[in-house]
Amino acid sequence: MANEVRQTMTQFWEEHSRDATVEEMMLDSSAALLSKEEKPEIISLLPCLDGLNVLELGAGIGRYTGHLAKLASQVTAVDFMQNFIDKNREDNGYRGNITFLQADVTLLDLPNESYDFIFSNWLFMYLTDEELAALTRKMLGWLRPGGYLFFRESCFFQSGDCERTFNPTVYRTPARYNHLLTSVTLKSGDYGFEIVMSKSVQTYIKVR
Ligand SMILES: C[S@@+](CC[C@H](N)C(=O)[O-])C[C@H]1O[C@@H](n2cnc3c(N)ncnc32)[C@H](O)[C@@H]1O
Repeated sequence: MANEVRQTMTQFWEEHSRDATVEEMMLDSSAALLSKEEKPEIISLLPCLDGLNVLELGAGIGRYTGHLAKLASQVTAVDFMQNFIDKNREDNGYRGNITFLQADVTLLDLPNESYDFIFSNWLFMYLTDEELAALTRKMLGWLRPGGYLFFRESCFFQSGDCERTFNPTVYRTPARYNHLLTSVTLKSGDYGFEIVMSKSVQTYIKVR
């Protein structure tokens, strides 16, 4: 069952990463316009990245990677679609402080306490509850003490206007995300993340 879900999610992204365009990746014919509006809004919510070691999960073609790399000391950009990784490298590789990693985040292993900040935009909705709980445990280990996770997901509506023969995306409420990310228990007996901020993305409220 778990394998079947993985195959479905992988197939979904294989079908939507052939040309590695922003429209294909955001599943929206107006993606270029939407991206121009929403990027500054998302970026305005991030903490100061000066000198930080950043992990970006589900980086896609790198809409955010360049910005993260401009401010942070080092960025590791992970995505499981090679076409997206190639496009990200083509656009942002010149910065010289980005490690591009082609990997499924559900199988990812990274050294403990090696990142100050984890950034993820529209990834968790492509993971099951069990996969997200397992990733949460791992992210807590990858972050250094005092580190932060920023994530953004579509909660109430299908994102994008592109026709989908099938749509395996999991739409969860903010309350469900809060529950999943705060309730995992670690071997040490500690609990999951503490939520310090939760917000709706105004660009999408305006557009929809
Ligand atoms: C909607 S796109 C968002 C891309 C980018 N974060 C952005 O906002 O422009 C979702 C991305 O997550 C990636 N993705 C989905 N599931 C993944 C997984 N299990 N491991 C790694 N990447 C994954 C897809 O390949 C795609 O690039």
